Amino acid sequence: MKITFTDRINRLKPSATMAVIDRAARLRAEGVNVISFGAGEPDFDTPDSVIKAAEQAMRNGKTRYTPGSGTAELKKAIVEKLARDNNLGYSPNQIIASSGAKHSLFNICQALFQEGDEVIVFSPYWVSFPAFVTMSGATPVFVQTTAEEQFQINAEKLSAAITPRTRGMIVNTPSNPTGGVLLPETLQMLVDMANQHDLWLISDECYEAITYDEPHISLATLPHAYERTLTVQSCSKTYAMTGWRIGYVAGNKDVVAAMGKFQGQSTSCPNSIAQAAAVEALMGDQTIVQERRDEFRIRRDYIIDALNQIPGLECVMPEGAFYAFPNISAYYGKSTGDQIIENSLDLAAYLIDEAAVATIPGAAFGADDYLRISYANSMEEIEEGVKRIKNALAKLT
Ligand SMILES: Cc1ncc(COP(=O)(O)O)c(C=O)c1O
Repeated sequence: MKITFTDRINRLKPSATMAVIDRAARLRAEGVNVISFGAGEPDFDTPDSVIKAAEQAMRNGKTRYTPGSGTAELKKAIVEKLARDNNLGYSPNQIIASSGAKHSLFNICQALFQEGDEVIVFSPYWVSFPAFVTMSGATPVFVQTTAEEQFQINAEKLSAAITPRTRGMIVNTPSNPTGGVLLPETLQMLVDMANQHDLWLISDECYEAITYDEPHISLATLPHAYERTLTVQSCSKTYAMTGWRIGYVAGNKDVVAAMGKFQGQSTSCPNSIAQAAAVEALMGDQTIVQERRDEFRIRRDYIIDALNQIPGLECVMPEGAFYAFPNISAYYGKSTGDQIIENSLDLAAYLIDEAAVATIPGAAFGADDYLRISYANSMEEIEEGVKRIKNALAKLT
């Protein structure tokens, strides 16, 4: 039978990260000691108290469908968390829980954007942002940020990208992949621009708990931002709960209701047990969040210094998340003997083959001069991995 896929499917690009991950898996299966800097998730375990809450939820019969947009208990916990940690006031009818922030972001785009619309995505971007926009039928319009400007957003470039078709912007601070944190003045510029052009601000704050220098600022707390901001957060990175799949949105109640309608007709509701576990994560003792942030800070300080000591590598000090994002373009044009390294895909492939170190090529994030290196690894692995990278790069001539 001839299969004809829809335009919707055909528009989606396959993940550029998969080639490296597949290669790493193959090498591992052959018994090679691969060090993976590819993970987009904490290496820590889910806190014990959260696991216990899930066990209890199962014993207590919380194993059935819940309301589509989440249980009343979880919405209450999210409201309290947003007030406690983010200085944000919402009521439960402004909250929807979803199967991870990825699902939240997908649903927002489904509710607000369609064919003919344009949505601003800042580059380097998290791989899924363009896909969310594309799947809604709208067109992503990229605005480049640079290491020279500390990955802040340039107002002139943004202004030039806005057209009468622009409906929103997807903002991500702290950022995956750069680890960059947007300054208050950058955030205010975005809010002003959004007000001027009547745009939605989709604020992906999944890494809000992992900031090293300044406390996270939620976009919706800025003057004139609240009405047009959809705040997206997640239990995934903060509580090492990536597999549990709980994220949420806080914002305009009509948008939240529209997302609830969409969610109700697609996935019904987020997992009931994970919702109960998320209540414990959000409301329980938060000491572990601080402890893990401190641990990430030690790793960050080590890896950025070590990467910057490798000849040709330049790495901005990331202020949040757990990614280093070195510029590796000094190695382009160099040769492995039989192959010239021309781009980030070539270099990532070389590092996996030569050094058994998996990294994610910057091309996946719209930034081909870079590699993304996740330091959600033990210090031993970080030290060994950086040493291997250094030795492999030294062999390129
Ligand atoms: C920037 C960003 N937003 C959203 C997500 C999705 O997180 P979740 O596990 O809650 O779907 C990720 C996960 O890698 C991310 O890096």
